[in-house]
Amino acid sequence: MENCKQLPKHIGIIMDGNGRWAKERGLPRSLGHQEGAKNLKKLLYHMYERGIQYVSLYAFSTENFERNQKEVDFLMDLFVTLFHKELKSLKELGVKVVFSGRKAPLKEKVWNAMMELVDATKEGQKGVLNICLNYGGQYEIVDMVQKIARQVQEKQLKIEEITKEVVEQNLYQQLPPLDFVIRTSGERRTSNFMIYQAAYAEYYFPNIYFPDFQDSDFDEAILDFQNRNRRFGKNEADSRQAE
Ligand code: IPE
Ligand code: IPE
Ligand code: MG
Repeated sequence: MENCKQLPKHIGIIMDGNGRWAKERGLPRSLGHQEGAKNLKKLLYHMYERGIQYVSLYAFSTENFERNQKEVDFLMDLFVTLFHKELKSLKELGVKVVFSGRKAPLKEKVWNAMMELVDATKEGQKGVLNICLNYGGQYEIVDMVQKIARQVQEKQLKIEEITKEVVEQNLYQQLPPLDFVIRTSGERRTSNFMIYQAAYAEYYFPNIYFPDFQDSDFDEAILDFQNRNRRFGKNEADSRQAE
């Protein structure tokens, strides 16, 4: 019966545990990131093949800039390499890539590689891939408030006209709400990932480092999601009204 139940429309993946994966093998953290990237490619194909329409990936948080310079530089170079390398296959897959996050202090080569990927995939119809890079949920809210305040200051909008819809139109991307967030590695926290969009998301915390997270683990996660009872604050569909 499971496969009769709904698939999540929008999935978030907090790809965590690359460093620990490498450490357990006596390898440098950079190799963990490389393995994570390899695994991601496989997983992405699987998710879109399974019919997921929107995927948001946490690739690099605003706070990750506080890591040591060597690791930050390695990750930035890895992003540039991957965006160039995967541009063609993402285009063929039909996935439209968008980014969420702040521009500064990203280096120009990183920003350019991001924009090239966005431009090359903009016609994609199969699904949307939202890559959160230099992303923080609290900063997204700050940036949204600034955008709206500017519209008010410029008299394009009245304060009373600020609604939930206006707030959502001023986030980084216009995407459906997150249904399901998977954080690998066993950590049970959001670490500033899409805190607005995840208001009613279901969370899943497998004890698996991201480089080891297989397609079958993803399928297991989906089964778990399909067995949850999402109520959105309402009565259960089959429950009797309180007397
Ligand atoms: C996630 O893996 C990747 C990024 C944050 C860029 P980590 O690097 O956080 O790996 P752990 O959590 O130290 O194992
Ligand atoms: C969250 O993981 C960011 C990404 C996966 C990109 P972190 O490893 O940075 O989060 P904390 O430090 O454990 O909260
Ligand atoms: Mg981590």
